[in-house]
Amino acid sequence: MAAEATQEELQAGRGYEALFVPALFAPWCDHLIGGARIREGAHVLDVACGTGVLTRAARECSGHTGRVVGLDPAPGMIAAAREVEPNIEWVLGSAEELPFADDSFDCVISQFGMMFFQDLRKATREMYRVTKPGGRLGVAIWHTIDQNPAYRDIVAVLEEYVSPEAANSVRLPFSLGAPDEVATILSQAGFEDIAFESKSEQATFPSTRTMVEVELRGWLPLFDIHLSEEKIAEVLIKSDVKLSKYATPTGKAVFPTTAYIMTARKPE
Ligand SMILES: C[S@@+](CC[C@H](N)C(=O)[O-])C[C@H]1O[C@@H](n2cnc3c(N)ncnc32)[C@H](O)[C@@H]1O
Repeated sequence: MAAEATQEELQAGRGYEALFVPALFAPWCDHLIGGARIREGAHVLDVACGTGVLTRAARECSGHTGRVVGLDPAPGMIAAAREVEPNIEWVLGSAEELPFADDSFDCVISQFGMMFFQDLRKATREMYRVTKPGGRLGVAIWHTIDQNPAYRDIVAVLEEYVSPEAANSVRLPFSLGAPDEVATILSQAGFEDIAFESKSEQATFPSTRTMVEVELRGWLPLFDIHLSEEKIAEVLIKSDVKLSKYATPTGKAVFPTTAYIMTARKPE
């Protein structure tokens, strides 16, 4: 896998870290840390780590005696993760072919990554393979887009003012909202004690325009969709009316998001 991020990929990674992570992803980390029961000294793998917000949280828990690895196939994500925290082991790779020996990790975690795996069954078998006997898995998957209406509204903006491809890229993260099916895949891979719980967290963006801007600057480029500054300005103006219901009196945009936290254990 090519190791070097292009300047464009690095910019997209930085945009994701600056705009998406604090607004949308950071609030979920504690659920994963708790679900996977990460303790001091644990060896932890974060699959689909992105720019590493969960990996960094895992490192806080496992401390200096642990080993924490973040893995992602996007060079720009890994490069941005390394900029934020150079002292974590960042690995370029995909969930379907984890470059680690069998039984390497006490905990394998993945926050909103599973819906992107090209072969979910193979990736799940890989996560099982690298988990130590008795080790734990913790994954987060979004509920459907209808259960996350703010994203349904953002998709409508993209559909109307950008393109069907742009709209589909934002639908994709919400495409795995059936925990029973995921539980079956986990079970077929060998995991036991499979459980899932619905959780809600509040997303807080600096403004309603930022809700869309993060998609335009931090998400679409990951799908090779690049817009001119003029187009970005136009879409943001158009989005005002559709998203005004999420504005608070202070000008921020606040809305609930919902997801499943799924946990499992590899038998001893
Ligand atoms: C929504 S982001 C989540 C990132 C991070 N876990 C977080 O909470 O911010 C999804 C991530 O999945 C990664 N991804 C896509 N396909 C993958 C694959 N086959 N294996 C592992 N990660 C993948 C993407 O590169 C992206 O960084």
